[in-house]
Amino acid sequence: MNRRISASILAADFCRLGAELARVSNADLIHFDVMDGHFVPNISFGLPVIEAVSRCTEVPLDVHLMIEQPERYLDAFAAVQPEIITVHYEAVVHLQRTLRRIRELGCKAGVSLNPHTPLEGLRYVLDDLDLILIMTVNPGFGGQQFIPAMLGKIRDCRELISGRPIEIQVDGGVSLENISRLAEAGATNFVAGSAIFQAPDPAAYISQMRSA
Ligand code: DX5
Ligand code: ZN
Repeated sequence: MNRRISASILAADFCRLGAELARVSNADLIHFDVMDGHFVPNISFGLPVIEAVSRCTEVPLDVHLMIEQPERYLDAFAAVQPEIITVHYEAVVHLQRTLRRIRELGCKAGVSLNPHTPLEGLRYVLDDLDLILIMTVNPGFGGQQFIPAMLGKIRDCRELISGRPIEIQVDGGVSLENISRLAEAGATNFVAGSAIFQAPDPAAYISQMRSA
């Protein structure tokens, strides 16, 4: 399975978001970090911004909901037709129903795990999943250090899905310095914010991430 790069616009310059999106037009996905100030200790952006972003880019959207009770907003986010909607395992009471609803809305269904959360809770919903997002930092902020213990978790996740067509996405502190190790461990989808937007040429950096 070849690598997919998802550029997180949390690290973009919001004074010129349209121009920033043009700088990452070769990304496979635009990663959209929604934060509600409850599930994570930060507030980022939401529906008005994603609606504008969906009009400014042809790159498919990858929505990462770091919010409590995300099931309340699935229809609203699905309206901009993202490729993926990912909810947090820790924020959902009825995960199977939520994943099924995301697919009913025409999007791929993803679940994200905080660094401490074991993989075991996914065992009985693997057939409802298109993507598993292994957080490689504690969610809420860009620019944090990658947590090395997550390499073993990625390997365990690869084993758990045992051949199913589920993408393993990693998110947080991902860069050219660690992407090869992450890929070797089994990750196939790589979110990066700071590393891409701090690069002099984000598009070149994305190409290097694909081939590193
Ligand atoms: C953190 C977000 C990440 C973050 C990645 O809660 O989920 O997507 O934006 O940022 P970097 O790549 O800067 O660590
Ligand atoms: Zn994210």
